Amino acid sequence: MFGTVLLLLVTLCAQEGNGEERAEALRTGHVSVVVVGGTGDLAKKYLWQGFFELYVNQARSGKTFSFYGGGLSPADAATSVLFEILKAVSCSKDVSEERCAVLKEQFLRLAQYRQLKTREDYQDLAQHIERELQQEGITEAGRLFYLSLPAFAYADVADKINNSCRPTSRAWLRVVLEKPFGHDLRSAQVLAAQLGSSLKDEEMYRIDHYLGKQVVAKILPFRKENKKFLDPIWNKHHIERVEIIMKESLDVKGRIPFYDQYGVIRDVLQNHLTEVMTLLTMRLPTNLSNNEEVLQNKLHIFSSMLPLTKNQAVVGQYQAYQTTVQQEMNKTKDHVSLTPTFAAVLAHLDDAQYEGVPILLISGKMLDERVGYARILFKNDIFCLQNPNGVHCKPKQIVFYFGHGSLQYPAILVSKNLFKPVSMDGEWKEVTEHTDVNILGLPISDYYVQTPTEQKEAYSELISHIFAGRKNSFISAENLLASWGLWTPLLNSLAGSYPRIYPGGADNRDLLDIRVNSKDIGYNSEVVIISSDQMGGTSTNSFQVMQGYFRSAGMVSAWTEELVERLAVDIQEAAEAAVREGGVFHLAFSGGSSPLALFHRLSLHHFSFPWSNTHVWMVDERCVPLTELESNFHGLHDHLLQHVRIPYYNIHPMPVQLNQRLCVEEDGGALLYEKEISKLVNGSSFHFVLLGVGYDSHTASLFPGSKVDGLGESLVALTESPVKPHQRMSLTFSAINRARKVALLVMGKGKHELITQLSRVKDNPDKWPVTGVKPADGTLVWYIDYDALLG
Ligand code: BG6
Repeated sequence: MFGTVLLLLVTLCAQEGNGEERAEALRTGHVSVVVVGGTGDLAKKYLWQGFFELYVNQARSGKTFSFYGGGLSPADAATSVLFEILKAVSCSKDVSEERCAVLKEQFLRLAQYRQLKTREDYQDLAQHIERELQQEGITEAGRLFYLSLPAFAYADVADKINNSCRPTSRAWLRVVLEKPFGHDLRSAQVLAAQLGSSLKDEEMYRIDHYLGKQVVAKILPFRKENKKFLDPIWNKHHIERVEIIMKESLDVKGRIPFYDQYGVIRDVLQNHLTEVMTLLTMRLPTNLSNNEEVLQNKLHIFSSMLPLTKNQAVVGQYQAYQTTVQQEMNKTKDHVSLTPTFAAVLAHLDDAQYEGVPILLISGKMLDERVGYARILFKNDIFCLQNPNGVHCKPKQIVFYFGHGSLQYPAILVSKNLFKPVSMDGEWKEVTEHTDVNILGLPISDYYVQTPTEQKEAYSELISHIFAGRKNSFISAENLLASWGLWTPLLNSLAGSYPRIYPGGADNRDLLDIRVNSKDIGYNSEVVIISSDQMGGTSTNSFQVMQGYFRSAGMVSAWTEELVERLAVDIQEAAEAAVREGGVFHLAFSGGSSPLALFHRLSLHHFSFPWSNTHVWMVDERCVPLTELESNFHGLHDHLLQHVRIPYYNIHPMPVQLNQRLCVEEDGGALLYEKEISKLVNGSSFHFVLLGVGYDSHTASLFPGSKVDGLGESLVALTESPVKPHQRMSLTFSAINRARKVALLVMGKGKHELITQLSRVKDNPDKWPVTGVKPADGTLVWYIDYDALLG
């Protein structure tokens, strides 16, 4: 089947040879390309063209190829379909017509359709490849499987490849996967685990085709080349805002069964726009081709992102979407889909370089135009008294223009009032002759513009990277899970939100305009297009937050986001009531990870909270210096206190370090804290105490078996933790149970077992310390998220 073309190419020893022979084989040996889903849409539109270009570029180097289009249909039905697709591939402009005809003919001769349904089909394919290799007497370089399939089929196909189609020699195996890689963090983890049982990480190439776009691929090189100009301005002092936008004018007709399950956030924001965001904000790697360094710098960005909450997103849906869903999914007229086709999300990095810089990620279908870009808009501190059109008064910006829109070609544009960028390598050129076009508020003549000399399809670029084994242009498992970790809480909190309905195209006018208020965003115009009654469904608000009883105390339960929201609102209500009543609010916070989401919520809405009348106390502290990461106060300071306007003298860290030593009984730190409480807090009764509960049911720093009940009347005590750091300072039950309100916050699936146990056990604070929380005159409310409650 490899035919005459092969005979022209280098013949290698078929047996595994010595190291040099092997290296030679990998350089020149045989490559089998299998596109599973080879007659599908993606393959038709992009993949075969990409593989043809690969063939044209590589055949000269001595590599030989065979191409298999695989599918579920039998060969007699699908072969002609595949060949119709293959015949449509085209050559680049610099190839003559005759040469192109020869290349296409060779390409077609190397291709065949194969039914790939059962394990036997995969075995047959493997045998076929091996037979051909033997007959031709050539060595195998590798096998490339491109899975252009719905994601639910991945695990099964990966398993078949693993069991039946691995190359027998030491040739490489590369398996390419298309998004969606899961639906949320959990399903992405499951998929990663399933694939991981068949394939090694280095064998998987997860495609995000945005990484193959020429401009996107140039973001890091551009930042590096222009480092001397960018270093002084690439920070919160100079950047006004970052916008990453992908507008589309098409609808989603024909894709509804997929799209309706995903929506725009999963389809575009979680992957394409997030990738662009990391490239723009990550620390510049010293070596751009060092995969590990690039990955680590990207992961650092994910870990510095502030959690995305409901108030940082708006969603919309184009009007005709409902009807299309009803038609394509065979639904009745009263079927309602809440899937968003438009979303705008405001992100922030909790990082010294970008703190406070709004990062907007926006995408939608049925908008006024098709265009994609990332814009870094810089602050302009020049006030032009007389000539607002003077160069210094105009927007200062860098635009990474992915394509389409009014410019119609990909480009990197730097406004002339910033700096003249360094000219990029030979494959890019400067554009100096302009048509009369305006890009994001500036005529194009006000920019330095660079564009690729030849426009290349993202898929073709990525196919050549897969072939070269360049993993930087693909999504690693860690990167993927970090991204889902960022988006999943937002997706959960938006589930059930009604999207704003927009008519589509130019008629949207200002309906989708966004207003950015400090850390939240909203639609600028307050039109309510559709009410829940009109939507036909029941209002989801009624079951988003559930109230009930747990261990004979009150319980509020909801998904994490709503739960944290509700707790924040309850704390604020308690604060306002206390301030009305006595001018002051005494609030005691625990440490640990559970309250972090609450701290973020409180810091985002700090304007309306009476912080200037609030005293903040600690429920417990680890005996480490307050400047250490492990210190509860350190966490509270970083995640909340530094973001709110609270007077310094209202903040009461626990005195764990006295006389230059930590938690020594004779230094009397616990007593000192107790005295401070007695002096400032009326009747030593805090208005609000926030507690968490550990896996061993400890609360505050009151651990099982440490006779926590026997601390008598003292309000503060030194205690021992079974885990490091062992020494702690903690409020006692005596202090906690004097409080007016006590909240016990329990979140996450990991706590489900504990909650189940706690629902059964009797009060026994020595064994189950949390059962000792029983406010004498106050109220106790358990705040338990659905994960902890339902598992
Ligand atoms: C895909 C999405 O990943 O990207 C599509 O699934 C979207 O919904 C497409 O239309 C946009 O890609 P491009 O390259 O046209 O910007």
